[in-house]
Amino acid sequence: MKQYRLAMIPGDGVGPEITKEAERVMDAITKKYSIKFDTTWYDWSCDYYLKNGEMMPENGLEILKPYDSIFLGCIGDANKVADHVSLTMLLAIRKGFDQYVNVRPIKIFPGVYSPVKGVTPETLDMVVIRENTEGEYAGAGGFHKMGWPEGFATQTGYFTQKGTERAVRYAFDVARSRKKLKGGDDGKVGMVTNCTKSNALNYSMVFWDFVYNQVAEDYPDIKTDMALVDAMTMWFVKNPHYFDVIVASNLFGDIITDLGAMIQGGMGFAAGANINPEKDYPSMFEPIHGSAPKYTGRAIVNPVATIESVRMMLEHLDEQEAADDIHNSVATVLGAGEIKTRDMGGDAKTHELGEAIAKQILA
Ligand code: IPM
Ligand code: MN
Repeated sequence: MKQYRLAMIPGDGVGPEITKEAERVMDAITKKYSIKFDTTWYDWSCDYYLKNGEMMPENGLEILKPYDSIFLGCIGDANKVADHVSLTMLLAIRKGFDQYVNVRPIKIFPGVYSPVKGVTPETLDMVVIRENTEGEYAGAGGFHKMGWPEGFATQTGYFTQKGTERAVRYAFDVARSRKKLKGGDDGKVGMVTNCTKSNALNYSMVFWDFVYNQVAEDYPDIKTDMALVDAMTMWFVKNPHYFDVIVASNLFGDIITDLGAMIQGGMGFAAGANINPEKDYPSMFEPIHGSAPKYTGRAIVNPVATIESVRMMLEHLDEQEAADDIHNSVATVLGAGEIKTRDMGGDAKTHELGEAIAKQILA
């Protein structure tokens, strides 16, 4: 029996109810495979902040370090704590554990409606590799004379050779393994699109392009491609099936993956993995949607993004068979079209969809 130690952080808003569905699916996996999850739950959240004056204990990273993985529900409740304060926890974990890529697949399940014309499970299959530790999220800057007519703010992005190169290299590696998996060059598979803005950002993105081109030389088997981020949002809607792997800086990756989520049927389907590829530190898995405080406790949100994040966790733990099982079970349940949460135009509860998927795993 394989055993993994997991830190579970449900967080705020709908976090606890979706994390319950993560647990339900993990329980089903344990029943079917020889995989056990030894979970420890942490109540780090905005409520924790209101009690303790911090989002997590000072030694939070030390506490998390021994775990094999971290599962995070969602963080933030602006009625309790300002977002730029509560979200320091998320960013501290991403940076502190060198989770330098954020992997965000954009696929659609059968039975799911996309507002973008022509999107089907057969045509939509791309993945965004978001640089996850620096760039526009470096946290460098300051306020000067705030409140005065001459007041101003600065926000400096850091783009290092090491940080940019490792994210781009990861994207090329993903493209290579996808190409191998799909067995050939069909004109699409085996391409990394560089999401840039080097026409206007004349230092950061020119540097980013320079590193992208440097790395690309090591991958002659993978096609290069580029799109300015503004044009990319246009192409996402106009021709999403064109894309294979996209590599983007921290901020651009953040923005385009919300758009990607809508193409795949909504935020309730978009999973994410904050990965430290070397496995020197635990990686963290989270749906990319927010905490949606207004839906808290109503059991109406879609748990698929969460369940797919568990799938990504199992992949990272090299439990491919169990991971595929989750994916196939989600596809079967959604494809049957009987259980739809509110975002899909139905009235099924969060746990009803979670239960159906868990049952399908065990079927
Ligand atoms: C995400 C979120 C976070 C980000 C926020 C909550 C800080 O939007 O994971 O996409 O910008 O990275
Ligand atoms: Mn985001």
